[in-house]
Amino acid sequence: MKIKKISKAVFPVAGLGTRFLPATKSIPKEIMTLVDRPLIQYAIDEARAAGIKEFIFVTSRGKSALEDYFDSAPELEASLKRAGKDALLDALRETNMDSGAIAYLRQNRPLGLGHAVWCARRLIGNEPFAVLLPDDVIAAETPCLQQMVEAYAQTGGNMVAAMEVSPDKTPLYGVLDVAEDMGAIVRAKGMVEKPKADDAPSNLAVIGRYILTPKVLNNLNRMKQGAGGEIQLTDAIAEEAQGDSNVYGYRFRGQRYDCGSKAGFLQATVAFGLARPDLRDEFGAYLNDMIALQKAAQ
Ligand code: UTP
Repeated sequence: MKIKKISKAVFPVAGLGTRFLPATKSIPKEIMTLVDRPLIQYAIDEARAAGIKEFIFVTSRGKSALEDYFDSAPELEASLKRAGKDALLDALRETNMDSGAIAYLRQNRPLGLGHAVWCARRLIGNEPFAVLLPDDVIAAETPCLQQMVEAYAQTGGNMVAAMEVSPDKTPLYGVLDVAEDMGAIVRAKGMVEKPKADDAPSNLAVIGRYILTPKVLNNLNRMKQGAGGEIQLTDAIAEEAQGDSNVYGYRFRGQRYDCGSKAGFLQATVAFGLARPDLRDEFGAYLNDMIALQKAAQ
């Protein structure tokens, strides 16, 4: 089987981010900071590690801070250089993207994730591509998309990142209907968007990393509205799972944080703060004190 390399990734960032209002009234959710880097930087770094060369952002009104973030900042760089602040200069340069590597296009109305991905169809063309949702931040030794690219080399087709969730959580996710469980990789015979616990076909939930074939874009052409009246990416992928299924779930190794929710963002802040050698001691000691105080107050 000849498997095409994945070199393009789509970052759908056109959502309204209502769960973070009022902050998201003027700040795009993807620019919100986890320790000292915006969410989008984690997604870009993960994509780069997986060999992505072209980065396609689907944006909307009010997201210009996101575009500015990836621009070079010559004055700031010159000032850090003059001051001999090399570590900061390196950190700043990590945010620069090669000319022409990054493209922005607009989703005029927030009609759903499926619609956002469809908006990128001309830039994607007729090749497989990755989709990364920056509000899913994944801490992993081998970055999640890289794990998926390696697994995809065995399967081809469409691949979605999957994780086990408890039954009460299935209404929050797309859930896989499993045809064949091969360990890390499962073949799916269907996918259901946000099923109630009793209707969920499994406990394998889909999270925000995908490798997709252009066929999925064709399916999106029909623009069928799904759960919540939105054009769902899940439905377009599920069509590929019918019959001779071409859809695989991948149980990634790592810890996923839902930074699109307040509790998830706070959990990620603690986890990433404690993982940082320069913050671990001070932050860890503070957390211990907080826990002791809470216990004493009970
Ligand atoms: P969410 O479901 O988290 O929606 O979208 P949201 O608008 O970002 O946030 P809330 O729920 O109002 O707080 C998942 C991903 O899909 C993108 C979002 O930007 C996010 O990356 N998305 C969603 C779009 O690009 N366009 C849409 O129409 C909907």
